[in-house]
Formats: sequence, structure tokens, C-alpha cells
Amino acid sequence: MKTTPLTNTLAALLLIAAGATARAADTVVEHRVNTAVSTRAGVANLYDMRRIEPIRGDAAAGAAKVTICVACHGPQGNSVVPLFPQLAGQRAEYLYGRLLDFQDADEKLPYYTAVIPMPQQAREMSDTDLRDIAVYFAAQVPEVTLPPTLAANIHQGEELYLHGDSERGIPPCQGCHGAYGEGGPVDAGSQYLAYPALHGQHAVFMTDRLRNYRENGGWPHFSTDDKIMHSVAKTLSDQDISAITNYLAWLAPTSSR
Ligand code: HEC
Ligand code: HEC
Repeated sequence: MKTTPLTNTLAALLLIAAGATARAADTVVEHRVNTAVSTRAGVANLYDMRRIEPIRGDAAAGAAKVTICVACHGPQGNSVVPLFPQLAGQRAEYLYGRLLDFQDADEKLPYYTAVIPMPQQAREMSDTDLRDIAVYFAAQVPEVTLPPTLAANIHQGEELYLHGDSERGIPPCQGCHGAYGEGGPVDAGSQYLAYPALHGQHAVFMTDRLRNYRENGGWPHFSTDDKIMHSVAKTLSDQDISAITNYLAWLAPTSSR
């Protein structure tokens, strides 16, 4: 992230608080994400999303901070462009976690382009901004913004989503993302809080995400959750990804939560 006197002070406080010295690559950052400011001791460190607590913020304040975001992500975060993810109704904890990732990301990575400008978007924001924005989008009602298509492989997608394929090592997605793609269970412990909803999400966007998790090319791991999806995505072929994302995009974005 760009350093300013404020961020420098915050970083120093955090390091003192955590008793941190230089960390080895890929060690888990031990502070709670809820109390974290968007800084990390080293580029390869991971946010520990297993300890995330419910994100609090001011949705009304958030509404005033998203003018530029909705240019791409659509009114209230209901996106009409398949490349731009739906944000309406997504878990606040997940949105917040991704915004932290973007804030630290190297915008020169080939992954980021003029249409995927998220590091630049998040860079100048305060931690309060990120929380307000996350809470705002989480509180919006998700809508069907593109006509649902009944792709030929949708049933195969449903089968894989619900049951996986044990012979090929594919875990059932619903175990972590919910039977209706509504996101991980919130009553079973806070470690699932940041497991995102997938129902009604755009297939094009999810395909991109899954390939990135799988190949990890030019795309560093940011959190313990990111690592989890890397292991899952390694089991998926392009055909699997096509089937599952078509199924999820077709699922109503409001189905049981
Ligand atoms: C020029 C278009 C554009 C603008 C403006 C933009 N975004 Fe994005 N955003 C994208 C694209 C493309 C992605 C997909 C990249 C990815 O997930 O790796 C994305 C991804 C995200 C994600 C991750 C969602 C998920 O389900 O994983 C969040 C959260 C997000 N944006 C929030 C914001 C916020 C908040 C703003 C305003 C401060 C904003 N975006 C402005 C294009 C944009
Ligand atoms: C063991 C738990 C687990 C399983 C099983 C799992 N996921 Fe995930 N998934 C996660 C977590 C945690 C994240 C958040 C990762 C992050 O923060 O980047 C995630 C993120 C995702 C995302 C990114 C969503 C977004 O808005 O950016 C997609 C797409 C996804 N998973 C699809 C799948 C599919 C398809 C399957 C089944 C083949 C699956 N997942 C199985 C835990 C799991």
C-alpha cells in the first residue's frame, strides 16, 4: 500500500501490538482481521480469516462512498456486466476481506488491468471506509440482472456442486458455500463467516476466479481462505468450472440464506 504518515503510524502500532519482527514467507498473520488495519509485515504473509469476527460499519455512510464503485458494479452492487461481480447481498466479512487483499495487491501484476482496477480503487481508503462499504453492499437486495440461461451442463454442475466427485478428489462445494450457494454457515463458528455466497453470481467472473485460484499464476495468496480455494480449484477441469458456474449463475440470488 502507499505509505502516508497515518499508515506508517498504524503499521508501527500494529507491529508493536503483535510483537512482530520480520516474518517468514507464508506465515499466518496472527492478529484478528476485525482489528486489523490494512497492513501486513511482508508481501507473502496471509490474513488469518479463521479468526474473523462480524464486520461492523455504517451502511448509510457506505452509500455515500460507492459512487465510483457502482459505475462498474451496478446500482446497489447489482452488476449487469458479467466480468464485474455482483456485490449486493454478499457477506460483509467476505467483501471486507477482499478489499484488504486489493489494498495490498501489486497493481502491476498482469492480472490487474483498466477493467480490473481494484488495487487502485481500494488504495486510498481508510479501514472505516472499507467496513462501511462492505456493510453497505451486504445490506442490498441481490437481483437477477442478466437473464438466467439454462446451459446444457447445468445438471452436471448441480451434481458437482452438491456432491462433488470423490474419485477425482472434488469436494462438495455446498459443504462450505451452503446448499443454495448462500454462503458458509454462520451459526457453526465464525471461521465460516467470510465464505462467500455464490448464488446468482456471474459465471464469467466466477470462471476467472476459479482459474486464478487453480493456476495461481501471477496471483499471490492473500489469506488462509484463499489457500483453501487453491486446493479445491486444483481438482477442477475447465469443463467442471463451466458446469458449476453455469449452475450457480442460474440459481436465484435470493435462494435461502
Ligand atoms: C472499472 C471497473 C471497477 C470499478 C470502478 C470498481 N470495481 Fe470492484 N471489481 C471490478 C472487477 C473487474 C472485479 C473482479 C476482480 C477480482 O475479483 O479479482 C472487481 C472485484 C471487486 C470485489 C470482489 C468481489 C468478489 O466477489 O470477490 C469487491 C469487493 C469490489 N470489487 C469492490 C469495489 C469497490 C468497493 C469499488 C469502489 C471503491 C469498486 N469495486 C470499483 C471492477 C471494478
Ligand atoms: C473447504 C471449504 C470450501 C470448499 C469445499 C469450496 N470452497 Fe469456494 N471458497 C471457500 C472460501 C473460504 C472462499 C473465499 C476465498 C477468498 O477469500 O479468496 C471461497 C471462494 C470461492 C469463490 C470466489 C467467489 C467470489 O465472489 O470471489 C468461488 C467462485 C468458489 N469459492 C467456488 C467454489 C466451488 C465451485 C467449489 C466446489 C468445487 C468450492 N468453491 C468449494 C471455501 C470453500
